[in-house]
Amino acid sequence: MTTSNLVLVGFMGTGKSTVGRKLAERLGWTFQDSDAVLEEEQQTSIADLFRQHGEAHFRALESKTLENLLARQGQIVATGGGAVLAEENRACMLRNGFVVALKASPETIIQRVSSDTSRPLLQGNLEERVHTLLEQRKSAYDFAHTVIDTSELTTEQIVEIIIRHAN
Ligand code: S3P
Repeated sequence: MTTSNLVLVGFMGTGKSTVGRKLAERLGWTFQDSDAVLEEEQQTSIADLFRQHGEAHFRALESKTLENLLARQGQIVATGGGAVLAEENRACMLRNGFVVALKASPETIIQRVSSDTSRPLLQGNLEERVHTLLEQRKSAYDFAHTVIDTSELTTEQIVEIIIRHAN
């Protein structure tokens, strides 16, 4: 692989962490989940950060975490689903790695995220929240170097496609 980092973006539940871990194993690279790094740095959960300080505070921390992470090389970085909303984050990702966007159908997303009820932006009616956010973020992931529709693919197939595209 000739790229400095491989950055995975995509809506919640599109498989960024699962694919990222497998990719890291396969390439012998470090796997970093930016949400997990942020939680570790702040010694609290993302749900608590939203609750206590609000989304804007979380987004500012998210940008800082990403910038610090992407200053290093040779990593697979899975980002939070909303990290792409800030222009500075998109620019930072494009500058420091090969950016892959994972897409999935609303049905797949709803099924995947329903097992984790902690996501602050999915509180309330889950189906409604997913559809509303997907509509709001319709083209938010299209800036990536490659966009992969994962609906009919296994994790292994996605990993192979990414390796092929990144070379
Ligand atoms: C968010 C996605 C979450 C997390 C936070 C906000 C979003 O990450 O960063 O709850 O705005 O889409 P995942 O995509 O890993 O669930």
